[in-house]
Amino acid sequence: MTEVIGGDEIASQVWLQLQRACVDRHHEWRTPVLASIGLDGSAQARTVVLRRADVGAGRLLFYTDRRSPKVPELRAHPGATLVFWSRRLSWQIRARVTIHILDAGPLVDSAWASVAQSPLAGDYLSAAPPGAALRTVSVNPVAPAPPAETAVPETPPGSEGPQPLDLRGGPHHLAVVCADVVSIDWLELSRSGHRRALLTTGGLQWLVP
Ligand SMILES: Cc1cc2nc3c(=O)[nH]c(=O)nc-3n(C[C@H](O)[C@H](O)[C@H](O)COP(=O)(O)O)c2cc1C
Repeated sequence: MTEVIGGDEIASQVWLQLQRACVDRHHEWRTPVLASIGLDGSAQARTVVLRRADVGAGRLLFYTDRRSPKVPELRAHPGATLVFWSRRLSWQIRARVTIHILDAGPLVDSAWASVAQSPLAGDYLSAAPPGAALRTVSVNPVAPAPPAETAVPETPPGSEGPQPLDLRGGPHHLAVVCADVVSIDWLELSRSGHRRALLTTGGLQWLVP
């Protein structure tokens, strides 16, 4: 962003960029880092893909596998932070959010419908949960990497060995992560002087960068 925008425009421009990031695969805000608290109290952070930004509700949506460790973590500690940086905009935002996770219902159904026919579907169909230990993994430097769901999971105790996976036969594990924005710490880097502001429903508070 080359022009200097006024304080009254910052919140609307931030949400406009968040909405663009949902539809523009190259937008740098498409893949923020979601930081949260682990079940043992440790700091946890991971990249996620921004799927929807609902300005009216002040809500950001992501998809995940409902069996992933972050789901119980976020249910136990719903307060989280999303960090976005865009070199093009020279903007960082740190959004404090309150999370709830949906693993059934119309929103999950429509989310699944939007990915079910795409290669993305495999992310939510693996037989073993994310983070499960693998006995073997094949890497072929010539052919493209296999989809994650073809990795062979650790053999369950008592079974005869790795079984072929019916990748599309089982239920999907997609869950929708809803992040309600509580406040946004906006930072603009500029040679002519950095600017920082805290955006809340109460308005804008300028801060020392
Ligand atoms: C570019 C990129 C995008 C990602 N998008 C998602 C996503 O939308 N949802 C998700 O659950 N994991 C996503 N991941 C994987 C997570 O960063 C993380 O490795 C995985 O979810 C396990 O995290 P957890 O152990 O905290 O549950 C993405 C990773 C990368 C590198």
